[in-house]
Amino acid sequence: MRIKVRDAHPADTEWMSNNTEGWTVTVENQEGATSLAEALHALIAEDPDQGVRMGWLHSSLLRAAGGEPGYVRLYELHVSPEFRQRGVARALVDELFARVPDQEIILSAWDRDLYGVWFKLGFSYVPGPDEMSGDRSYPGDMVRPPVEAVS
Ligand SMILES: CC(C)(COP(=O)(O)OP(=O)(O)OC[C@H]1O[C@@H](n2cnc3c(N)ncnc32)[C@H](O)[C@@H]1OP(=O)(O)O)[C@@H](O)C(=O)NCCC(=O)NCCS
Repeated sequence: MRIKVRDAHPADTEWMSNNTEGWTVTVENQEGATSLAEALHALIAEDPDQGVRMGWLHSSLLRAAGGEPGYVRLYELHVSPEFRQRGVARALVDELFARVPDQEIILSAWDRDLYGVWFKLGFSYVPGPDEMSGDRSYPGDMVRPPVEAVS
């Protein structure tokens, strides 16, 4: 199985909205949906040999007020059940990481049950300000720092 990652097109939104999480993706901004219009990078992973789409992600740029640096929010990441645990999420996340090397990426509303998976995908855990060690609800953030900051 080959994995090719490309930008999402308007024709992909119906397929993207057919997911196990109940997320809706639209072309233009719409209440209760994420849209291609607000995306920084919306990406599709497909198998070019089979012509089949396998997964997608949606990210947006959050600008901070007062000259503070903003960050990239990775909001939704979905792989179709039949293609899971075959490196599709990794291909999508790697492509996003490569596209925004100079910006912080924060995983939004991340699934605490998949704590170890996010590490495998290259994120680091930043504990909340008053977090006690061993707090299994993980109130902090899952982050990919700007590449310059870690080199
Ligand atoms: C979470 C999700 C995106 C992972 O996609 P995937 O394509 O299966 O992930 P990958 O195959 O790239 O896996 C990356 C690594 O995590 C591991 N992994 C993936 N899913 C895992 C799981 N459910 N349990 C344990 N390990 C898992 C893989 O084995 C792999 O490990 P490796 O580096 O040792 O090889 C997918 O399960 C999904 O779409 N889930 C439903 C939506 C969801 O929960 N999205 C995240 C919302 S915050």
